[in-house]
Amino acid sequence: MKNILITGGAGFIGSHVVRLFVNEYKDRQIFNLDKLTYAGNLENLTDIENKSNYTFIKGDIVDGSFIDEIFEKYNFDTVIHLAAESHVDRSITNPLEFIHTNIVGTVNLLNASKKQWDGSFTDKLFYHISTDEVYGSLDDGGFFFENTPYDPQSPYSASKASSDHFVRAYQNTFGLPVIISNCSNNYGPNQFPEKLIPLFINNILHEKSLPVYGKGENVRDWLYVVDHAKAIHTIFQKGKVGETYNIGGFNEWKNLDLIKVLCKVVDEKIGNSPGTSEKLITYVKDRAGHDLRYAIDANKIMNELGWEPSLQFEEGIGKTVDWYLENKEWLERVTSGTYLDYYKEQYQNRK
Ligand code: NAD
Ligand code: DAU
Repeated sequence: MKNILITGGAGFIGSHVVRLFVNEYKDRQIFNLDKLTYAGNLENLTDIENKSNYTFIKGDIVDGSFIDEIFEKYNFDTVIHLAAESHVDRSITNPLEFIHTNIVGTVNLLNASKKQWDGSFTDKLFYHISTDEVYGSLDDGGFFFENTPYDPQSPYSASKASSDHFVRAYQNTFGLPVIISNCSNNYGPNQFPEKLIPLFINNILHEKSLPVYGKGENVRDWLYVVDHAKAIHTIFQKGKVGETYNIGGFNEWKNLDLIKVLCKVVDEKIGNSPGTSEKLITYVKDRAGHDLRYAIDANKIMNELGWEPSLQFEEGIGKTVDWYLENKEWLERVTSGTYLDYYKEQYQNRK
């Protein structure tokens, strides 16, 4: 039986990836290694937690000896690495945390894989999940391609860029079989409400202001999270070792336009009169170093591996809002306690 290690599987994207793999590979053991930071939540996986091919391991990827121990114990064939500090605003407040988890944590996993596989790389794979933010910021035109030079602008993207470089360096230097994919902004069920879409849904439900950074003119390319999980699965199955794949939905939205659609969808679903939630929009101080635009050219994964997004944005945003409305207790649990301190720290000085 093959053992697949997925890191960060209790987080937003990781939980969708774990679910897909546990359901798809009954003959393989799927291990989910997660520290359960504020962003990790085992509630995201209650539907599969009792499956016989699923094992949860609580642990920190920054702890190198612990990582070595679990590799020795379980002899993983494949690593799909998602664990990370993922929120740009937190990286501005506390960059070191990002260096520890995103860089040191990744190198610990690379070292453990190298040691365990010991030069015999047949059927082994280290698959690193990265972001389009490593390419920097675009003006009005153009796209990020797989060979776009790296130009990270935030501590978060700098830490992810660094981890990508280490992954490639381990292939170049030690022959480790690696693949990297760089995806655009994800949205959908289980996203922690520090990110734009779930934060704004939560604020609308509590009739709180909707803090738009700057003029709301920044552009992001949005992909439904299940489509990202399916892309990861496609790359796991068919991706070529040593390659990079960009993943995106060809679905660009100016923040303000997206926020207006979100307000309209929530208003319709909760029975507000039209325009109610838009009134909550408040322009606040911009994010420091705010990247203007991200846009992924996803032609390589589409043409070479046959993946494509399954959902149109209108459908995806509807499903997302439905999930948050049906899971208000999840939302309440994750927004109590320390979330309130976080919110105060991030937003009180933006007025
Ligand atoms: P998330 O913040 O929702 O989840 C991160 C998970 O990693 C959490 O479960 C957390 O507990 C775990 N984790 C954090 N530090 C850890 C540590 N030291 N040891 C073990 N586990 C730890 O993040 P996400 O949005 O699901 O992103 C997952 C991955 O995908 C990240 O690598 C991120 O850079 C990348 N990515 C995210 C997006 C996006 O839009 N969210 C887009 C492209 C790429
Ligand atoms: O592009 C992929 C990246 O997308 C991932 O690598 C990151 O992990 C993920 O967090 C996301 O980064 P962004 O910074 O683009 O996502 P966020 O949801 O934080 O912000 C989206 C846009 O909305 C961005 O232009 C900032 C703006 N924004 C965000 C928040 C939280 C606001 O205007 N107000 C807010 O309160």
